[in-house]
Amino acid sequence: MNPIRIAVIPGDGVGKEVVPEAIRVVEAALANQAEIAWTHFPWGADYYFEHGRMMPEDAIDTLRAFDSIFLGAIGHPQVADHITLNGLLLPIRRAFDQYANVRPAVLYKGVPSPLANPGPIDMIVVRENTEGEYAQVGGFVHSGFPAEVAVQAGVFTRHGIERIIRFAFDLARKRNGKKRLTSVTKSNAQGYGLVLWDRVFASVAADYPDISTEELLVDAAAMNFVRRPASFDVVVASNLFGDILSDISAIVTGSIGLAASANLDPERRFPSMFEPVHGSAPDIAGKGIVNPMAQILSAAMMLEHLGHPAAAARIDTAVRRVLADAKTRTPDLGGSSRTTEVTEAVLKAL
Ligand code: IPM
Ligand code: MN
Repeated sequence: MNPIRIAVIPGDGVGKEVVPEAIRVVEAALANQAEIAWTHFPWGADYYFEHGRMMPEDAIDTLRAFDSIFLGAIGHPQVADHITLNGLLLPIRRAFDQYANVRPAVLYKGVPSPLANPGPIDMIVVRENTEGEYAQVGGFVHSGFPAEVAVQAGVFTRHGIERIIRFAFDLARKRNGKKRLTSVTKSNAQGYGLVLWDRVFASVAADYPDISTEELLVDAAAMNFVRRPASFDVVVASNLFGDILSDISAIVTGSIGLAASANLDPERRFPSMFEPVHGSAPDIAGKGIVNPMAQILSAAMMLEHLGHPAAAARIDTAVRRVLADAKTRTPDLGGSSRTTEVTEAVLKAL
């Protein structure tokens, strides 16, 4: 059998620390059921310092040949974030039309939530990942002068809205959850793009009578992610709102160090990309204390996507087992374990 081809981009900061840990776990979980060929690309801030760009000009063509992309984190204190992110992460999401950003948030047994009464949280934020507020349409006028003006447009297309909403409904249907989909907008203030979103949501909902629906404005959604997180099942939101809400869903389930994500091309025309929700965390990078779980759980999402659900489930079970026992935890979860100790515990639980 041909090996599965994975392009690995550890990136910057803690990305370089968690990616090798997750690869060890994947190899152990697959045992000899499949072979993976990991190809490492040293792209990111270091590459930028040497070459003046985050990745080579033909990077997208290079990546196209792979089955999936496994990304650590991008970002460096000495380079503006809009340069690092617009030079690597965001172009990959767009070039491969990874329009569904899937971000589960589960309050695992034994993990403390900062909320007093969180209840059993088990939700997925589905974030539109190719347009909306991230479209990079706009410009500067009178740059550098007192009359300087910046225009930043949001782009909402019926095509883009409809496909992400359908994806979220299908997920709510497929998943063994509350069969509920919450749509988040701010159509009271943004009277064009998000009004179109609301209209499309209503029309697509008619095709899913078995899924109950809820529509929230983003400010109320933010409040309710804290007030009643256990009431959510699948949540669908625009690019920026999904970005913000998925940090809230991560922290109410204990730590952003546990939050995994998948950037999916659901039609499988291109490689999808799997990465933790957290960033390069320069404040703790190099100390060996970053939580590897988000990267490990992102790897499980990748295996699921690549047709290895049993190996993915094994990783999920092992992670749950390690988290249930407070013994081995990194500082973000109140423990004093090191990154590698957590990996060792997961490997043992496998
Ligand atoms: C994320 C990150 C990125 C985003 C940043 C780093 C551009 O916050 O994946 O959530 O906003 O998409
Ligand atoms: Mn984010």
